[in-house]
Amino acid sequence: MTAVRLKDIRKSYGNVKVIHGIDLEIEEGEFIVFVGPSGCGKSTLLRMIAGLEDISGGTLEIGGEVVNDVPPSKRGIAMVFQSYALYPHMTVYDNMAFGMRIARESKQEIDRRVRSAADILQLTDYLDRLPKALSGGQRQRVAIGRAICRDPKVFLFDEPLSNLDAALRVATRIEIARLSEAMSGTTMIYVTHDQVEAMTLADRIVVLSGGIIEQVGAPMELYERPANLFVAKFIGSPAMNIIPASITATGARTTVALPGNREVTLDIATPDSEKGAAVSFGVRPEDLSVATGSDSIIEGTTSIIEALGEVTLLYVEGLSSEEPLIAKLPGNQPFERGEKVRLTADPAKLHLFNAEGKTLR
Ligand SMILES: Nc1ncnc2c1ncn2[C@@H]1O[C@H](COP(=O)(O)OP(=O)(O)O)[C@@H](O)[C@H]1O
Ligand SMILES: [Mg+2]
Repeated sequence: MTAVRLKDIRKSYGNVKVIHGIDLEIEEGEFIVFVGPSGCGKSTLLRMIAGLEDISGGTLEIGGEVVNDVPPSKRGIAMVFQSYALYPHMTVYDNMAFGMRIARESKQEIDRRVRSAADILQLTDYLDRLPKALSGGQRQRVAIGRAICRDPKVFLFDEPLSNLDAALRVATRIEIARLSEAMSGTTMIYVTHDQVEAMTLADRIVVLSGGIIEQVGAPMELYERPANLFVAKFIGSPAMNIIPASITATGARTTVALPGNREVTLDIATPDSEKGAAVSFGVRPEDLSVATGSDSIIEGTTSIIEALGEVTLLYVEGLSSEEPLIAKLPGNQPFERGEKVRLTADPAKLHLFNAEGKTLR
């Protein structure tokens, strides 16, 4: 069943349009992540679903009912923000119970829900503590617990991990993944600018930029088959290498010329009309390897070598005037700065984008 349906959803602040017509169906029990750069409209979209922002155009349905004009408290949603906003003078238990007391739930029901949420979030030992006696990660778990207690149909998260340090962010991310397992029937919509959070948590990712959807798909779909240059560069780290190129041979396979008179053939079909077209050639850093024979597709000179232990990042210059190309090679590599290097890649792992940035396949 569809839990949340957005039909041509628009938002303007005065004359400024920030959301340009979003169509999206979110299934019950799905974990959906909105990802995109800062300012692309993620929070605005989430806040419209929550009822914290007016909807300028289009219709929003939750559980099959149009809720454009339904107040937040009647939408069956609960939202977790970046700042945990706990009451400092109340214990963990009372913070979680607060909303239910306002709603005049019975004492037994409040106790049952608080203890069940505390159990899911491993907060049982902390119920009598005040927020100041908790770590940032534990405080964010209390904020999540408070949302769980409301027993929402849809959970909304707006960058819940961005105030935590790196280690806590990973631990709390794993906690949220466990939570979504434990509450598998509950729909979750999660906003982040962090593509690692998106990749690890989502059933489906919605990539946004400038108030429009660039692509919707499962994490691996976006990684392996990005619809356009924007998604190709946004998903994956370090980002996909992009090199200007032109098509020299078309057909079932396509050959392109890269700067330096080097030709590469890709497992991508193009029509004859594309011959001579300016394109962008893309290859992920992790899909490059050191050429052993005459099969190199890229040659250049190393400028920076970042040995990270499990991988080595090799920055290669001299291919074009643009940014250095990055190769992510396994383990510790015996390269030195200024060394000539020849790189190759599996033709099936190469990407091609037309002049408008759309993926050719
Ligand atoms: N209350 C507001 N008034 C005017 N412009 C706003 C307001 N809130 C957000 N915006 C603008 O809308 C755009 C999207 O913002 P936002 O949804 O917060 O982006 P994100 O969460 O993706 O970083 C931005 O350009 C922002 O400046
Ligand atoms: Mg935001």
